[in-house]
Amino acid sequence: MKQFIINGGNPLKGDVTIGGAKNAALGIIAAATMVPEPVILYNMPDIRDVQILLDVLKDIGVKVEYQDKHAVKIDASKFKYKKVDNDELRLMRGSYYLVGAMLGRFKEASVLMPGGCNIGNRPIDLHLKGMRALGANCDIDGGSIKATARRLTGSAIYLDKVSVGATINIMLAAVLAYGTTTIENAAKEPHVVDVANFLNSCGAKIKGAGTDYIRIYGVQSLHSSTYSIIPDQIEAGTMMIAAAATKGDVTLRGIIPKHLEAIAAKLSEMGVNIETGDESVRVSSNSRPKPVHITTLPYPGFPTDMQSQICALLATSTGVGYIKETLYDRRFGYVNEFERMGASIVVDNNLAVVTGVPKLKGARVNTTDMRAGAALVIAGLMAEGTTTIDNIEFIERGYENLAGKLKALGGDISLVDIPDDDDSLEEKNII
Ligand code: UD1
Repeated sequence: MKQFIINGGNPLKGDVTIGGAKNAALGIIAAATMVPEPVILYNMPDIRDVQILLDVLKDIGVKVEYQDKHAVKIDASKFKYKKVDNDELRLMRGSYYLVGAMLGRFKEASVLMPGGCNIGNRPIDLHLKGMRALGANCDIDGGSIKATARRLTGSAIYLDKVSVGATINIMLAAVLAYGTTTIENAAKEPHVVDVANFLNSCGAKIKGAGTDYIRIYGVQSLHSSTYSIIPDQIEAGTMMIAAAATKGDVTLRGIIPKHLEAIAAKLSEMGVNIETGDESVRVSSNSRPKPVHITTLPYPGFPTDMQSQICALLATSTGVGYIKETLYDRRFGYVNEFERMGASIVVDNNLAVVTGVPKLKGARVNTTDMRAGAALVIAGLMAEGTTTIDNIEFIERGYENLAGKLKALGGDISLVDIPDDDDSLEEKNII
């Protein structure tokens, strides 16, 4: 088990560069398997979810070559249809994009059901509905998503719920379909746009990504491309909140400020200073935050993936705020861990009422999911005393070198690796 040990109280100060977006990278890697020529992807985040997906690609016959730490060449020219049943896929969510990609390219897919964070019910009915509308027979069978089609034909698809995963998966399946596909009530997240932009750079014809009405004009084949993945909106938001929570002064570089508007607006409401540049944002604060009310929504609303991090900040506000979670039914699982640190939070179904306390106090806490883990890191950085966070493997799935980046900003955080058969806290690797 890996842990973070944090001695709280240091204000974060300095500059930090934000890496490539996890959720865009996973969609784009899957999309690259549809291209019968090599593609080179830049700004690839060096995170566990990406490593797992790339390892799986290698295993099923796609050539994957790192050019450097953040640039990967994916060559699917000799890729032949294969069942994808690697057990590691249970650890992540984005693997379901291989269904759309393989169905699109081979008219056949069999991919182990995805796992990912346990934040509530995560059905894939809309993915299946979309693929069926294109003419595929698909179902969940023996723990895998299976889809086959004699030919895929464009269709008009309405998504009953705004779903990032279903929007991207349908886009992937439709790119090489015969005729035009439309997706109504499509997700507008930046990573949806990034996957569409990548596919368009390979010769696809996708229009309207970033709006709720996407049109995909089927093409016969895709070609080689080089593409740079957008910066990670959630890593950036996490760093913004860490800066505010520690009453620090941090400039984030290499970002797209437009993607951070909902987060920046809430932080401003809380009294945090935000100065936005072309590709940067400076975040500073010197007082306890004001309480606010937050409702998570699909983009451009406040992201559910930032809900636990903003809760950490709200936990020390000067009053009572609330957070309403509208996407997942078990996303407040981390609240007990915050309470160990002295937070006062009452949860009633999808609503958390957060009464600010002057200070959090260090404690031993457990990571319940990736974003909640990042929120515990923020809580530890601002708490009095030492916080030990267990099971940080969840955090490593989606954050590249989080401890290293925070340490460079002055945070007192170290990563320790405890051998499974040894529960003494022997420090192995201090970043
Ligand atoms: C993606 C992100 C995740 C983020 C989420 C919402 C990836 C790998 N993960 O997850 O980090 O938290 O978007 O921004 O990109 N739904 C259905 N039926 C479906 C699909 C979804 O009812 O077929 C529901 C979900 O239960 C949820 C809502 O729609 O309530 C949104 O889910 P979706 O956008 O699909 O999330 P994921 O793709 O799982």
